[in-house]
Amino acid sequence: MQYESARVKDMYRKPETLLGKSVEVKGWIRGNRDQKDVAFLALNDGTFYSNMQVVAKQASLANFDEIKRLSLGSSVTVRGVMQASEGKGQAHDIEAHEIIVEGFADLTNPIQNKRMTMEFLREIPHMRVRTNTFMAVFRVRSLLAHAIHTFFQDRDFVYVHTPIITSADAEGAGELFRVTTLEPNDYKTDAEGNVLWDRELLGTRGYLTVSGQLNVEPFCPAFRNVYTFGPTFRAENSNTGRHANEFWMIEPEISFGDLEADKALAEDMIKYIFNYVLERAPEEMAFFNEWVDKGLLDRLRNVLDNDFAHITYTEAIEILKKSGKTFDYAPEWGINLQTEHERYLAEDYCKRPVFVTDYPKEIKAFYMRLNEDGKTVRAMDLLVPGIGEIIGGSQREERLDNLLAMMAAHGLDPATYEGYLDLRRFGTFPHAGFGLGFERAVMYLTGMKNIRDVIPYPRTPNNVIF
Ligand code: 4AD
Ligand code: MG
Repeated sequence: MQYESARVKDMYRKPETLLGKSVEVKGWIRGNRDQKDVAFLALNDGTFYSNMQVVAKQASLANFDEIKRLSLGSSVTVRGVMQASEGKGQAHDIEAHEIIVEGFADLTNPIQNKRMTMEFLREIPHMRVRTNTFMAVFRVRSLLAHAIHTFFQDRDFVYVHTPIITSADAEGAGELFRVTTLEPNDYKTDAEGNVLWDRELLGTRGYLTVSGQLNVEPFCPAFRNVYTFGPTFRAENSNTGRHANEFWMIEPEISFGDLEADKALAEDMIKYIFNYVLERAPEEMAFFNEWVDKGLLDRLRNVLDNDFAHITYTEAIEILKKSGKTFDYAPEWGINLQTEHERYLAEDYCKRPVFVTDYPKEIKAFYMRLNEDGKTVRAMDLLVPGIGEIIGGSQREERLDNLLAMMAAHGLDPATYEGYLDLRRFGTFPHAGFGLGFERAVMYLTGMKNIRDVIPYPRTPNNVIF
């Protein structure tokens, strides 16, 4: 008999095209309920959130004993007919004519149909992806990445592959992973004790990038609007649910744009990419709403349907002081906003995403444009309920003298930033940009509470598995 290769996704989304047909599906066993002479297999072929039920009858299958023993994770080829299901719980199923066992899963498989804690699953990142939760998370993550490219490409932004190995600290915060080819006992020094870095393979010491911003900005004068989207690395010892040492960042940069344009772009982007996923992964989003974060869909609707709020840093400090709340860290003008402050502003005060702008220059990066007051810079952070900061950005300092002064104030050596300074020397222009933490966006969209559970292989302090 001729069997048509079929996908479970089409069986759910376009059943009429396959109903009554002889189909072949290859996939993995997610459940096996066997009765005396019939087994009901839950088959997932990776194309869709839901499983397809396979009805395997002793009467029609020579290897029925083998089928009864199929355990979770086993891989199979199923040939049979797609039909209206007689049972409850599913509209359709496949009546099997033939089931070929491709590979049995050992019964010691750590992934079983029982409650497993997130902590347990983090220990086996290569296996946890076979669970409903992680299948949903990583499909949404994939769609969200595509949404980002679609958003920017549709608006004629040029995608720039900024380097992973860099020569300078883009944020000037000193949270760098070093890249070296020298063995620890092979560092040679000159007479004054300075390490001879020219002995490095790259001729100098390198660092893993903390941000693509300084490398993407120079592409503005060629392409006007540009973006980079790639992995970034920060050697910060933060043990929280929202910091990772390796994470992905989206960084657009717009020529002739000011902070207002920057905020507008960020708001449009968030709404577009969330809507994109809501439309394309309704099953996954319903799963999160039911099992991970009740009320998630209502909250996302609220994000899509309303304008984001806008306050200045100075206003934010006043709001925090008047809140009547006791914070672990007292709000005073000049402090860095802590997560507790960010969450109060977004969750309790604004009850929606809020842009906070114009921070004191001392607590922000050296490249942000100085305001008239000489005290604050044209910075913006987007804070959201449940997480805090998901975007950090600014209008850039396009005036060479100001930039040099700011670098001096931050204790940075201008020699390391020559290329960045050239941008101000050869046809400077106003521009702005921001960085969206990709994992934080996935957390916000899915309701997942820990950054370790939205990145396939999390890298956090004392933790590199696989
Ligand atoms: O605020 P940040 O440090 O800004 C920059 O790196 C700028 N160069 C961006 C730009 O203007 N082009 O980081 C941007 C975002 C943060 O808002 C946060 O969402 C995320 O990156 N982020 C992290 N995400 C996970 N783990 C960490 N350790 C993160 N540090 C920053
Ligand atoms: Mg920031």
